[in-house]
Amino acid sequence: MSNDMNVTWHQHGVARAEREARGGHRGCVIWFTGLSGSGKSTIANLVDQKLFAAGVRSYVLDGDNVRHGLNASPGMLEPRHGAAFAKRFGLSFSAEDREENIRRIGAVAQLFADAGIMALTAFVSPYRRDRDAVRAMLQPGEFVEVFVDTPLEVCESRDPKGLYKTARAGEIRGFTGIDDPYEAPANAELVLKTAEKSADAAADEVLAYLRATRQISAAK
Ligand code: ADX
Repeated sequence: MSNDMNVTWHQHGVARAEREARGGHRGCVIWFTGLSGSGKSTIANLVDQKLFAAGVRSYVLDGDNVRHGLNASPGMLEPRHGAAFAKRFGLSFSAEDREENIRRIGAVAQLFADAGIMALTAFVSPYRRDRDAVRAMLQPGEFVEVFVDTPLEVCESRDPKGLYKTARAGEIRGFTGIDDPYEAPANAELVLKTAEKSADAAADEVLAYLRATRQISAAK
């Protein structure tokens, strides 16, 4: 057995069920997926605010923030850590780096769920296989996939960060929806058509789902 296999799982002194009983709700992962500009972060943050107001412990992990730290791009790591480190640990938008981005986030979200917290993740996560791999790490019902189904034309007309314009000009290569694929979920627990409703109404739909599936109590 190689040396790196000599790692055993240490049982926590406080059981997850005890943490959940104290919090009065389940720990789980609400996984928002969709194109850049589809409204993932906006809706996740509204859900977070509504959960906070209801006394539910939740936390938003979103691509734009996590890609500044844990999953920073090579270009951001290089000045401080050097080129070799940045190349080894930095994450670009290639298919394999997106896969690693989602793997790490899945693992972090799983820790949040284990701590009895609702992790709300907002990543493009364009590949079905990568999202399904996160689902497979969790118990049934613990992974709630929310497809923020906003047509490309709408995302592009919003273009909150000006990235679609830059991608259309050919200055960014491999931009999801332009010259890189987005694989829509086949069996998402929830599909939010944001072109047809407000972000607030979409967030309310997520809360209604969480109540209906008893992830949070009807009273919250
Ligand atoms: S993911 O594909 O690996 O899940 P993630 O959600 O972390 O992506 O980051 C997406 C954000 O990074 C987008 O909202 C956008 O602001 C920015 N971005 C920069 N380059 C790209 C690209 N090539 N494709 C998609 N998003 C990009």
